Amino acid sequence: MKEMRIGLLGLGTVGCGMLQVLARNAGEIERRAGCALKVSSATARDLDKQRPADLSNVALVKDAMQIVRDKDIDVVVELIGGYEPAYALIMEAIKCGKHVVTANKALIASHGNEIFQAAQEQGLIVSYEAAVAGGVPIIKAIREALSANRIQRMVGIINGTTNFILSEVSDKQRSFSDALSSAQLLGYAEADPTLDVAGVDTAHKLMIMAATAFGIPLQFSSVYVEGITEVEVQDVNYAKELGYQIKHLGIAKRVDNGIELRVHPTLIPTHSILANVSGVMNAVMIDGDAVGSTLYYGPGAGSEATASAVIADLIDLSRMLNSAPEHRVPHLAFQPSALSDIPILDIGDTQTAWYLRLQVEDKPGVLAFITRILSELGISIEAVLQKDTATDGNKIVPLILLVYPVEGSGLKRAIEQIEASDDIIEKVISYRLESV
Ligand code: HSE
Repeated sequence: MKEMRIGLLGLGTVGCGMLQVLARNAGEIERRAGCALKVSSATARDLDKQRPADLSNVALVKDAMQIVRDKDIDVVVELIGGYEPAYALIMEAIKCGKHVVTANKALIASHGNEIFQAAQEQGLIVSYEAAVAGGVPIIKAIREALSANRIQRMVGIINGTTNFILSEVSDKQRSFSDALSSAQLLGYAEADPTLDVAGVDTAHKLMIMAATAFGIPLQFSSVYVEGITEVEVQDVNYAKELGYQIKHLGIAKRVDNGIELRVHPTLIPTHSILANVSGVMNAVMIDGDAVGSTLYYGPGAGSEATASAVIADLIDLSRMLNSAPEHRVPHLAFQPSALSDIPILDIGDTQTAWYLRLQVEDKPGVLAFITRILSELGISIEAVLQKDTATDGNKIVPLILLVYPVEGSGLKRAIEQIEASDDIIEKVISYRLESV
């Protein structure tokens, strides 16, 4: 296969994100996939609308059915959302022998059993990584990476909109409606945002995760659902005073007599990891009997973050279509013939910010001497801290500096020159800084 031809249903936030990422990363994606991924045709409700993606090489088709029946399309990507026409289009695509990639959690949670059965009968694949937790590869983690485990519990912040709203209310004391408007503007919310705030979107995702984790059929109506619409600012604040954050969680838990599936606002201790997941970020904690507790974190909504998961599914498909089973995922992720010889940098050539601690004589001119050396070597200081720990008769004090990014070799030269002074009593202690 020289290229995998994709029919794209939906040119909204995620559809445009997908086109942008495919265009920007075309080279790397092809080196991983083993062939080019080409969006041949696309459809949307309003084809004339201005969009952020380049559609010049995409055939725009009014009738979505025409795309799913097109003999020249290998894979259908469904990014319309909702039940209809998405369901009819996916079923028709399967009937026409096409693999499907979808981000549609509502559809998978409610009709996944029929869709997967139809695909199974036709020997086709329906992939849905983007349906849960946006860009976080949570389905891959559950279905593949954790497959040795008896999964005991999953606790997730899996709706970016509600987490964004609760974070804004808690951290900035904004009103719920104001925060929701921002979430809509940022492209996080569903077309109908009541699905987010009423907890239904979280319940869809929880159901999908639970089915894959516990090996049960999808049964959306069994999920208990409470949204954040009744949460009041005063409760967010009282909880905070008591050492808790209110988070909107999806919880799936194996207990002696069955499985709990529940979505509701929940108090969790402020110091816990999940309490510190803010804004649109999602996080899922999964406890397995063998591995223990694991955590998956990342953007749960948004254009390119969700497109990242859609494209990963497409790359999986193209590897399957292009390779023998034993070579489906290349050993080093890229096709062996497509490895690149980008140089690995010598540590002296790597740039980082630094923390420095010097033991100095506490007397005039010492700081000026140090800053002169740094400035001559083009090293800029971000912060200075001098701790007065000198006791009677001891005029040696620690001087702490943070410096902006500089190559390791440049910093080494500076340290050598500083250490040559008699006013610097001990070896300079240095640690690299990294933004994480
Ligand atoms: N509305 C969803 C959310 C989009 O806020 O998480 C991603 O599924």
